[in-house]
Amino acid sequence: MIETIKQRWAAFDASMAAVSTLDQLNRLRVDYLGKKGCVPQFLKDLRGVSADAKPAVGKRINDLKTHVETALEEKTRVLEAKSDEAGGKEFFDVSLPGKKETAGSLHPVAQVMEEIVSVFYGLGFGVEEGPEIETDYYNFEALNIPKDHPARDMQDTFYVEEDLVLRTHTSPVQIHVMERRQPPLRIIAPGKVYRHDSDVTHTPMFHQIEGLMVDENVSFSNLKGIMDVFVHRVFGERTKLRFRPSFFPFTCPSAEVDIQCVMCLGKGCRVCSNTGWLEILGAGMVDPAVFRSVNYDPEKWTGLAFGLGIERVAMLKYGINDIRLFFENDLRFLKQF
Ligand code: PHE
Repeated sequence: MIETIKQRWAAFDASMAAVSTLDQLNRLRVDYLGKKGCVPQFLKDLRGVSADAKPAVGKRINDLKTHVETALEEKTRVLEAKSDEAGGKEFFDVSLPGKKETAGSLHPVAQVMEEIVSVFYGLGFGVEEGPEIETDYYNFEALNIPKDHPARDMQDTFYVEEDLVLRTHTSPVQIHVMERRQPPLRIIAPGKVYRHDSDVTHTPMFHQIEGLMVDENVSFSNLKGIMDVFVHRVFGERTKLRFRPSFFPFTCPSAEVDIQCVMCLGKGCRVCSNTGWLEILGAGMVDPAVFRSVNYDPEKWTGLAFGLGIERVAMLKYGINDIRLFFENDLRFLKQF
């Protein structure tokens, strides 16, 4: 058998020397390495070889295989380089129509987020960020939500450990910023938040934008003015808004802001449960207890804060009735934005 292997080796070298196209090279590859090719056949024949001759013959076959593989590889490179030099004529038909690359686009949530950020940017608010995993202190305590206080039930929290939570709102960024900086300040903080909650209007992860403004003599009318501009820019100049008294431990007084229903324009429909109004955000004047936890003098400084859900705004803006559509990443949905 060793003799036959030697012969085929020599035959391979001879054929190889004569090869001048990639096609010929491929045929040679099939002849030697293909399923029914020479090398696999030798391996099959090896089974019939006596036990003491087997190692030597086996080694020969393997040497042949390596030799063939290396030679083929080498020649492929040479021939491809040549065909490139010749303008790639061998495989490139310049008359064929081109392939169109489909361009990606921003996710609708990202689009709405950018739009809202740019509105506040225009009002002098700078962008800040904070961690998504928070200590109990930043997510609750410093925001005037003590342990065991019933207000903790307002948000269904994911606890990572006893003292660590996935932030349930972007409000802890207020605390980080106030610890780092002195007033006056005007910031917004967009980001992901997490709640143990899931249905057609709630997902366990969603996005919020927090707003905070601290200065001397900031008043509730500043809050109204800023909310006016925001609603009119995002939902249209003619959209009415109203403030409803509410409660948040970190603001006082607190309000929820409603806009006139974008579906029925206030007449009353299924989307607004026949009230004509839709709730879009929580807001209020910063509670003095919050200023005390960051060592700001509550006698000197006043502030306003607000927090809004981006998916909620996007749903109302585009008439989307199921929040989960945002996260299924079905291209038929995403391509509409
Ligand atoms: N953090 C509140 C929430 O997620 C919203 C809010 C922010 C309310 C700032 C008032 C002031 O529900």
